[in-house]
Amino acid sequence: MAAAVAGLESSVVAKSVEELSASAGSPPEKYILKDGIGGTNFPLMDVAVIDVALLTSSSPEGEREVEKLGLALSDCGYIQAVNHGIEESFLDEVHAMIKQFFSLPKEEKMKCARQKDDLDGYGNDSVYSDKQILDWNDRLYLMVKPEYQRKLKVWPQNPANFREVLVDLTSKLEKIDEVMLKAMARYLKLEDEECFAKQYGENPTALSRFNYYPPCRRPDAVLAAKAHADGSAMTYLLQDRIVEGLQTLKDGQWYKVPIVPNAIVVNVGDQMEIMSNGIFKSPTHRVVTNPEKERMTLGIFFGPDATTEIGVVEELVDEKRPRLYKSVVDYPRNTFPFIQLGKKPIDLVRL
Ligand code: OGA
Ligand code: NI
Repeated sequence: MAAAVAGLESSVVAKSVEELSASAGSPPEKYILKDGIGGTNFPLMDVAVIDVALLTSSSPEGEREVEKLGLALSDCGYIQAVNHGIEESFLDEVHAMIKQFFSLPKEEKMKCARQKDDLDGYGNDSVYSDKQILDWNDRLYLMVKPEYQRKLKVWPQNPANFREVLVDLTSKLEKIDEVMLKAMARYLKLEDEECFAKQYGENPTALSRFNYYPPCRRPDAVLAAKAHADGSAMTYLLQDRIVEGLQTLKDGQWYKVPIVPNAIVVNVGDQMEIMSNGIFKSPTHRVVTNPEKERMTLGIFFGPDATTEIGVVEELVDEKRPRLYKSVVDYPRNTFPFIQLGKKPIDLVRL
């Protein structure tokens, strides 16, 4: 996830990746990784499948599910959420809406174009340096919450149900996030199960990112999304239902994150790693390209109020586990350019 930083962006990329993909020949130089993506066959990550409904239960089964959740988030940082209460028919509607938007003619999509130094809107990588390797990805960023930060002028009018569906999805995921935060506090045996939710503050943020990854002739040397960790507290991803691409790094090895039908992929973001004093891991992940097929995903990033300082939960600091991170304010906005430049933002706030 990301936020642009005022005044730092050097230019806006003119051509969409969709156009590059449609034109003959190899991708332009600035998309090519000199050393390639490091392999062709990647093992599958065994991502824990978590029954969200069980997380609120105090039965032994509920306890076990909370334990399984906590272990997975402290290990690879990813889970697949099932039995989450979002109807399959609603997910169908969301997937159809994503496809409808990206299938519009360019002129229509450009009505939502992102302006230089802005975050919200349709476009591609913010460019901060000539040396930056670009991602094979067109995207639409829209801040959904707090409501007063919605930049409705770049919200699609087409498809007609876009706005309603996005707002509806965000509130459904927000409810799941509340359950997750409580279960995570329970796993850590924290006195206050609301302690993470409280750090979200009065006006928590929800940022949406619609991703379109066109086919690419150089899957060996071009990434659809460069390696990064999310600046959120928690990320909820609706993966493409057919085409894989997401990979996560563990002990120096890239693993594929599998597609589980109708599951929501959930991962820890840097701000949760900070709040949990490093117990929950914000995974480094990336997206690889596909030589034939397009791929579409939607990520919703939840995090604290951009004006509130957040930090390590005091109960998680002791002699054996000293405080690992400084407190931060508006973390995604303050750290984003570092991702594009290939640095790891969380290292900047490590003590
Ligand atoms: C992101 C991201 C993964 C995907 O948008 O931050 O990691 O599979 N997306 O699209
Ligand atoms: Ni990400």
